[in-house]
Amino acid sequence: MGVLGAIATAAEAKTAVDLFTGTTRVAQEFKSNGLEVIASDVATYSDILAKCYIETDANEVDLIEIKSKIDYLNQLPGFRGYVTEHFCEDARFFQPKNGLKIDAIREELEKNFKSDKDFSILLTSLMLAADKVDSTTGQHMAYLKKWSHRAGNDIELKVPDLIPGKGKSILGLAEEVVAGLPAVDLFYMDPPYNQHRYFTNYHIWETLVRWDKPPVYGIAMKRLDSRSPQTHSVFNKRKLMPAAFKDVIIKAKCETLVVSYNDESWVEPIDIAEAIFEAGHESVALLEFDYKRYIGSQIGIYNKAGTKVGVKGKRLNKELIFVAGDTSRVEAIEAMVAGRGIEPRT
Ligand SMILES: C[S@@+](CC[C@H](N)C(=O)[O-])C[C@H]1O[C@@H](n2cnc3c(N)ncnc32)[C@H](O)[C@@H]1O
Repeated sequence: MGVLGAIATAAEAKTAVDLFTGTTRVAQEFKSNGLEVIASDVATYSDILAKCYIETDANEVDLIEIKSKIDYLNQLPGFRGYVTEHFCEDARFFQPKNGLKIDAIREELEKNFKSDKDFSILLTSLMLAADKVDSTTGQHMAYLKKWSHRAGNDIELKVPDLIPGKGKSILGLAEEVVAGLPAVDLFYMDPPYNQHRYFTNYHIWETLVRWDKPPVYGIAMKRLDSRSPQTHSVFNKRKLMPAAFKDVIIKAKCETLVVSYNDESWVEPIDIAEAIFEAGHESVALLEFDYKRYIGSQIGIYNKAGTKVGVKGKRLNKELIFVAGDTSRVEAIEAMVAGRGIEPRT
């Protein structure tokens, strides 16, 4: 179990929100620990992942039927379409043999599986399979000069590891979604902290999910609508991010709030702690990890009247997680994490 799963256990949480869920891996960790989870993000690929891993109850699907749909998709003959043209010929994200298959499978999903109950599972399966044969270092801002080793493998869709339990996906802007969310035991948030945009970093997933075949530009064949203000997040804007972040913290209705902190952030830890107090939490601890081991508490536990010992201006090179709530709960969580020597990431 990773630290976030351990925190959920120490918080005795039964319900959780993962705002800015991205890959949904944290939401998956919560759900695997028995929590009912709401996962939310503005990215359409994240919504599909959340529909597959968080909304789908593994106990309620017919795995044999899903497997036979995946077998069917795997044997489709490839053909040259949008992916082959832009991501294999104009750019070199995939080898053409795999681009042809991706085109054929995605087109088939669009034509004949769009209203299938397993659509999100099948599309997730395609995303994961494509991810395994791409020629990048993980993001889509660039492809490797020389083909990656894995790019030479043949793409193969597999049934994703579904998780039993309840959950929900909400596609939308955090700053709009947050107010409508129910009160939960545990609220986790991991927003972007700087100018790096997920919309462009993962543009191929966005396109594969939307299947809107947009015009592209640049060496990485990014979506032309990356330039449009509608696709820009307030969390990637230096001037607007701190206030938006504070607002989301204040509106998160929960017993325990957990915030991942990035040391390349535009916001100082002390400002986040202040927003947490303003949200009404009694105590906050900033847990610090180095080399994936818990090494202590940056600002310790302070109640609203306590001295605010900040780390302003200090360059941190660590993984940090804020934990906020009632003092006894924050202490219990900190003790549990300290006692386990567990990893900060799931
Ligand atoms: C640091 S990542 C989260 C990573 C995630 N915890 C994971 O494990 O994959 C930030 C996420 O915020 C999302 N995002 C950016 N701006 C947003 C906004 N205004 N509303 C909702 N989500 C946003 C991005 O799409 C991205 O998935």
